[in-house]
Amino acid sequence: MLVQIIRNASLTSHRMSILRNSARLSAWSATARSISSSSSASLFRNSLQPVAHEESQSDPRNARMLRMLMFGKPGAGKGTLSGRLVKKYDIVSLSTGDLLRMHIQERTEIGRTAEEIVAQGGLVPDELMLQVVTSKLDHLHNKHWILDGFPRTLVQGELLNSHLNKQNTPLSLVVNLDVPDDIILSRISDRWVHLSSGRVYNLSYNPPKVEGFDDETGEPLTKRPDDNPVCEIFARRLEKFYSTTSPLLDFYAHLSQARISPSPHRHPNQHPHQLAFHSKPPHRLMVQSIAGTTSDEIWPKLEAVLKDAFPGLKERIESADVRRRHSLSDAIAAASVTASISSK
Ligand code: AP5
Ligand code: MG
Repeated sequence: MLVQIIRNASLTSHRMSILRNSARLSAWSATARSISSSSSASLFRNSLQPVAHEESQSDPRNARMLRMLMFGKPGAGKGTLSGRLVKKYDIVSLSTGDLLRMHIQERTEIGRTAEEIVAQGGLVPDELMLQVVTSKLDHLHNKHWILDGFPRTLVQGELLNSHLNKQNTPLSLVVNLDVPDDIILSRISDRWVHLSSGRVYNLSYNPPKVEGFDDETGEPLTKRPDDNPVCEIFARRLEKFYSTTSPLLDFYAHLSQARISPSPHRHPNQHPHQLAFHSKPPHRLMVQSIAGTTSDEIWPKLEAVLKDAFPGLKERIESADVRRRHSLSDAIAAASVTASISSK
């Protein structure tokens, strides 16, 4: 039944097939050429862009770091929504799927081990994935970050948890994107990617400005091997999600409810009642499911969760400027300032 639905979805995407035939070969070789120069920089999307500095308030939540898992089925929009957050806020995102695709392109040892597994829609061994992730995560101290695609098994969840706890940088937020299967299936056949940056396009939802090419670099877009052929491989990935990955939601729900014990360290003159208060606010994991079928539905809810729980997150100057330009009153104020300067 599932395979039949996917097959139907794939039949309707004739535009994609035409593009695929003409562009795939040249696209893969072009992206492979570009990858060695751009891969490591683009893995931390926008990490070097400036951020807007606003007045810090006395709210202790301002000091809270975003260490977030973007959780959800394959095709739920994890990469798309992480990309939006990174573009707007001072956040770095790390996608294990993107990292593996880089390794595969660069023919590293990890890439050679992962290639066949990824192409078949299976899961790469846990220890190897932990190595892939921690080698990057350990450079992100004092940064707000999002992990997309990791963990994917209970073992990975436990390994990540103990790694982060050892570093005293526990997770602070898990967001589960809850999107119905039939919506996802129709999206996948329309998905095109820019491999070296991880940018994701969809022919109907967020098409590139020029069909078949990346908006920022002008390089050709490609299909992901595990979206091709859409039917069998994607069904396998979805199946794997239900059997192996979705139990992690209970794991995190449980962690978020765990009691936070008071700190065992205290000053010798401190009254026992003062033990109830930590010098720093305790790290409490928040788990949030956001349901929806379109990004217009999911994006505002996701942004509201982040703004409420992490009010210290800074917007990048670029996006703050764009927003300002969209404000009519600001535009009028700017015009009157310009007029008064030029009349002096
Ligand atoms: P990975 O790359 O992580 O794949 P995935 O989880 O299957 O997720 P996707 O990237 O397919 O989907 P997404 O949720 O990012 O959706 P997207 O934003 O693209 O992993 C690939 C493989 O690597 C795995 O199968 C596995 O083999 C291996 N691997 C990775 N991590 C591993 C781990 N931890 N352990 C073991 N193995 C691991 O959106 C999908 C499409 O929908 C796009 O076309 C997009 O434009 C469109 N879209 C998004 N939002 C909307 C919307 N609201 N409305 C309409 N269209 C939308
Ligand atoms: Mg993705």
